[in-house]
Amino acid sequence: MNYLLIKHLHVTAAVLSILFFVVRAYWSVSENALLQKKIVKITPHVIDTVLLVCALLLSMMLGAAAAQPWVLTKIVLLIAYIGVGTIAIKRGRTPRTRAIAAVIAVAIFLYIVGVALTHHPASWFY
Ligand code: HEM
Repeated sequence: MNYLLIKHLHVTAAVLSILFFVVRAYWSVSENALLQKKIVKITPHVIDTVLLVCALLLSMMLGAAAAQPWVLTKIVLLIAYIGVGTIAIKRGRTPRTRAIAAVIAVAIFLYIVGVALTHHPASWFY
C-alpha cells in the first residue's frame, strides 16, 4: 500500500480525533445528554482505531527506521492522551476535574503533533 496515502489517513484520523474529543469534552463538562448517544460513544473508537492502525502500518513500512525515540515518544504519549482523555469524558467526578483533564489531553495532543513534525521527542521545543 502507498505510504503517503496511509500517512494522509493517519493525519486525517488525528484531526478528527481531536475535533471530536473537544466536542465530547465540552458535552461532558456541561453534562449534555448527547454524550450518552450510541453513535457519540462508538465513533471515537472507530477514529482512534484508524489512527493507530495507520500508525502501526507506517512504522512497519519504515522498518528499522522506525526504531527511533520520536516514534516511542508518540506511542507513550498516545497512551497518555487516551488515559487523560477518559478522565475528561467519563472518569472525572466533577465538571472541574473533567475540564482540567480535557485541557491536559489537548496539550498532550499538541505536543504529539510537534513530535510528528520535528521527528524529535522534544517536539515544539526542539
Ligand atoms: C494522537 C496521536 C498522533 C498524532 C496527532 C500524530 C500525528 C502525525 C502527523 C501530523 C504526521 C505527519 C508528519 C509529517 O507530515 O511530517 C504523522 C506521521 C507519522 N506518525 Fe503519527 N501521530 C500520532 C500517533 C502516532 C503513533 C502512536 C505512531 C507510532 C506507532 C505514529 C507514527 C507515525 C509515523 C511512522 C509517521 C510517518 C512519519 C514520516 O513519514 O515522516 N503516530 N503523525
